[in-house]
Amino acid sequence: MARIPVAGPWITQKEIDYVADATAHAWYGNANMYHDRFETAFSHYIGTEYAMALPSCTSAIHLSLLALGVGKEDEVIVPDLTWIATSAPVTYVGATPVFSDCDEKTWCISSDSLQECITPRTKAIIPVDLYGNLPEMDAIRDIAQDKDIAVIEDAAEAIGSEYHGRRAGSFGDVGVFSFHGSKTMTTGEGGMLVTDRRDLYDRCLTLRDHGRASGEKMFWNAEVGYKYKMSSMQAALGLAQLERIDELVDRKRQIFSWYRQNLESVEEVTLNCEHPGTKNSYWMVTAIFDAEFGLLKEEIIRKMREKEIDLWPFFYPLSSQPAYSAFASACDAQRRNVVSYRVSPYGVNLPCGMNMTVECVRRVCDVVREVVGIGESS
Ligand SMILES: Cc1ncc(COP(=O)(O)O)c(C=O)c1O
Repeated sequence: MARIPVAGPWITQKEIDYVADATAHAWYGNANMYHDRFETAFSHYIGTEYAMALPSCTSAIHLSLLALGVGKEDEVIVPDLTWIATSAPVTYVGATPVFSDCDEKTWCISSDSLQECITPRTKAIIPVDLYGNLPEMDAIRDIAQDKDIAVIEDAAEAIGSEYHGRRAGSFGDVGVFSFHGSKTMTTGEGGMLVTDRRDLYDRCLTLRDHGRASGEKMFWNAEVGYKYKMSSMQAALGLAQLERIDELVDRKRQIFSWYRQNLESVEEVTLNCEHPGTKNSYWMVTAIFDAEFGLLKEEIIRKMREKEIDLWPFFYPLSSQPAYSAFASACDAQRRNVVSYRVSPYGVNLPCGMNMTVECVRRVCDVVREVVGIGESS
């Protein structure tokens, strides 16, 4: 039986044609034609004024922090449960990450914990739309506005999710996306920064072009910046994927619905939530197993692998990781973030690549039941 991977894209002839066209024609005076089309279409889709294609979401977070003036002496609040790409750029700019606890249902940053983490040094918050789930955006925005703190919405995993009719990524001063090969839409590697703020957009344009302001003479650099650009071939791939975004998100939702039908009657398994008024694009179908099964995620993953099915572990709390062992803020978080430490050990991402079929989902669920010792599916 073929091994079932966790994630992977859906590439059609359209993507192949666009990339071939970029390879043949996006040079000389047309060098930016696919960037322009991709960025315009993307800002339109998200509902923001500006969009900037970048080599990764990590670089988008880095630029956002720099453009917001975050630096030494500042603190940036991030959820404890996320990929380290959310917090690593905080260190790049010399600031301190502060790890907030997550909400029991959405697994995203909890607004109560966020409040507790705020100090006079807090300069920004990076809420993450984890696995496509959405945090309490209204509460987060109110807190941020009240305390004059910037918001960078990390929507790396949530293209196509919606919160009361607005698209994920449009809630902060800046929103950022990832197009890594595992994501709902991909450019191989790649990212996008979106914003309504002209000042931040202009600053990011300069910073990502080795410190050369747009319109400035060639090879003339006002400051030392970065080289954060996407290639035309990636932009062409991204444009083709974006033109199929409804189909891609529908497929993700369909895969999730197959899992839900199969597992929803099992009380001891909790899947991603979708609160009223929100739409979840379910980048990762995620299951939290009741601690009473007595199986940690690593054990479940090992047993499933023996049956040719790959799973990923739920993110480990950042504050538990060696990367942050020397950070006092991680020590505080280990004591404070009880939900993160309760959820993470028992969570896994189930296979939900774009190539999943209803039969594959049934096979995964059958093996899951066998491995953790749940009764037969109905
Ligand atoms: C929540 C989150 N933030 C940021 C990133 C970084 O994205 P990239 O790999 O494009 O830099 C990822 C990537 O997986 C992510 O899941």
